[in-house]
Parts: sequence; structure tokens; C-alpha cells
Amino acid sequence: MARIYDSQRRVLVTGGAGFLGSHLVDRLLAQGNEVVCVDNLFTGSKRNLYHLVSHPRFEFIRHDVTFPLYVEVDEIYNLACPASPIHYQHDPVATTKTSVHGAINMLGLAKRLKCKILQASTSEVYGDPDVHPQTEDYWGNVNPIGTRSCYDEGKRCAETLFFDYHRQHGLEIKVARIFNTYGPRMHPADGRVVSNFIMQALRGEPITIYGEGQQTRSFCYVDDLIDGLMRLMASPAEFTGPVNLGNPAEFTMRQLAEKVLEMTGSKSEIAFRPLPPDDPKQRRPDIKLAASALGWAPNVPLAEGLRPTIDYFASVHAAA
Ligand SMILES: NC(=O)c1ccc[n+]([C@@H]2O[C@H](COP(=O)([O-])OP(=O)(O)OC[C@H]3O[C@@H](n4cnc5c(N)ncnc54)[C@H](O)[C@@H]3O)[C@@H](O)[C@H]2O)c1
Repeated sequence: MARIYDSQRRVLVTGGAGFLGSHLVDRLLAQGNEVVCVDNLFTGSKRNLYHLVSHPRFEFIRHDVTFPLYVEVDEIYNLACPASPIHYQHDPVATTKTSVHGAINMLGLAKRLKCKILQASTSEVYGDPDVHPQTEDYWGNVNPIGTRSCYDEGKRCAETLFFDYHRQHGLEIKVARIFNTYGPRMHPADGRVVSNFIMQALRGEPITIYGEGQQTRSFCYVDDLIDGLMRLMASPAEFTGPVNLGNPAEFTMRQLAEKVLEMTGSKSEIAFRPLPPDDPKQRRPDIKLAASALGWAPNVPLAEGLRPTIDYFASVHAAA
């Protein structure tokens, strides 16, 4: 049963040692909440939480969400899942289990506690979209048997489970479809485009672009994204989502590479490589629903968010 003896909330963040999770933990603590962070440290790191070791309202539990968890909390943010292709393709069966069994376990916990639960879903549920920009009512174009499917279909099944727990058990759910997000504490070797380009530029290695670099992505700065997740959690009970959270400003991979070269002052060259299978050509959120339902829009332009991100990676590079 959730606690009733004080007004402070105790919040569970699964995946709290990861990139987004650790920023969310910081913000929840800054608001005065107690935070229980659960993570198996597969892609996350205790380094992301070192500054919280002696924080009186913070607790870390090393745990794999594919196993049941018994804690007493008032709200759950379910972020546990490897998020970059290199990591989620490392053990694809474990990735699907993390999304699906993890969702079942966290939904079961929320049902027992009668507490609300938020799922960190993804723009990958749209697959290689035929519709641009993607609105939440678009059902997607996903390959069910490809090398990205463990992530895409795992996240789609997790959404199904969230909505079935909502319909069948009356659970209060919130589903966020997160688009590419970047910022300090991203894993330097996760193969995601922002971390890749910056690390390559800092090392003076060629910047690898897949295809001709004309595919576009939109990049949301982490502070904006966390603000969106917290607004979603605080939204009225009847608002379940799914809701897109991302920055609609589109950049080609070539533009991003050039921006990183300019901001790092690197002399790296650009190298072109073949496109991997199922790589979406374009990805851009339609965020009208987030604007109307949550009063949310991203505030940090790419050039502004890249500065602290580059500084972070420079410190990682210097320590290596
Ligand atoms: N960063 C993005 O651009 C982005 C975009 C879309 C969706 N998301 C979603 O947001 C969430 C967080 O992503 P991130 O970028 O912070 O990735 P991340 O890899 O930095 O964080 C994921 C965390 O989950 C933990 N984890 C993985 N499997 C686990 C398991 N079985 N049990 C317990 N913990 C486990 C990892 O150790 C890590 O700390 C993920 O669910 C991801 O799918 C992120």
C-alpha cells in the first residue's frame, strides 16, 4: 500500500542509472520527492548516480525488471530498457524480455499499489514511417522479424500491456513516445548518432555517416524531455497518451556532422558507409498533442544543447 503519513511522494524510476533515468532522478529529488532507483546496470552506470550516494531521499536497488519487484511507492516511471541498437541487439531476447516481462512486472506492482505508472515508449513504434511528421494515431510500419524488432516490437507490446491493464484493471497509465534525445551522461559508446559524431570529432577520427547523410532526425535536449515526462505524469487521470515527446526541428545527418565539427573545432573528415537495414529515412514528431494536453514544447535549440553535451564527452574523453 502507498504511504499515507506524509505528503512527500516516493517515486520508483526503473532504468534510473541510465542517461534519461539519472536526469529524471535528479529532477524528482530536486522537487522534494523520495526516489527509489532500480537498475541492473546493463547500460547504465553508478557513475551517473555518484553525486547522490549520500542523499537522504535517494535509494538504489540493483535489480533486473524481468523479475518481480516488491517495493512501496506512489508513482512509477518505467524506463528500464537498453535504448541504442548496439546495446539492444547485443542480446535481443533479453531486450524483448526487458520490455515485455519488465512491463508486466511493473504493471503488476502498480496494480497492487493502485499507483500511476508511466511507460518510456519510443518513436521506434512507428518503424520506418509512411507518414511525416508522425502523429500518435499513426499505427506505424514495423518489420516484425528484423534485427531492430526486439526493441520496436517489445516496446509496442509494452504499450499494448499498458492499455490492457488500463482497460481491464482501471490502472492509471501514461505512455510517452520519446524521440531521439541527447545530452550529458549519454553512453559514449552507444553508437547513437550524437554521441558517435562527438566522440569521433574529439578523437580526430573520421565522422561516419550512413548512406548519403540526407536522412533526417530530430534531437531533443534531455532537460526538455524530462520536463515533458514529469508534466505527463502530473496530467489529469483521464489523459493516458500515447503522446509524442521530442523536438520537431529536423536536421540531416550531414548538417549534424558539420555542426559538431564546427563546435568541437575538430579536423575530422566525414566518411560515408552503407545504410544499415530498416534505418528510417526520416523521423520527426508531431507534438501538437503534447502542446495542447501538457502545455509542453521543447525550449533548447540544438546548438545550445550541444554545448554541455560536448563538454560532457570532452570530460569522458580526457578521463579515458
Ligand atoms: N534516449 C533516447 O533518445 C530514447 C528515445 C526513445 C525511447 N527511449 C527510452 O527511454 C528509456 C531510457 O533510455 P536511455 O536513453 O536513458 O537509455 P539507457 O541505456 O541509458 O538507460 C536504460 C537503463 O535501463 C537499464 N536496464 C536495461 N535493462 C534492464 C533490466 N532488465 N532491468 C533493470 N534495468 C535495466 C540500463 O542499465 C540503463 O541504466 C528506455 O526505455 C528507452 O527505450 C530513449
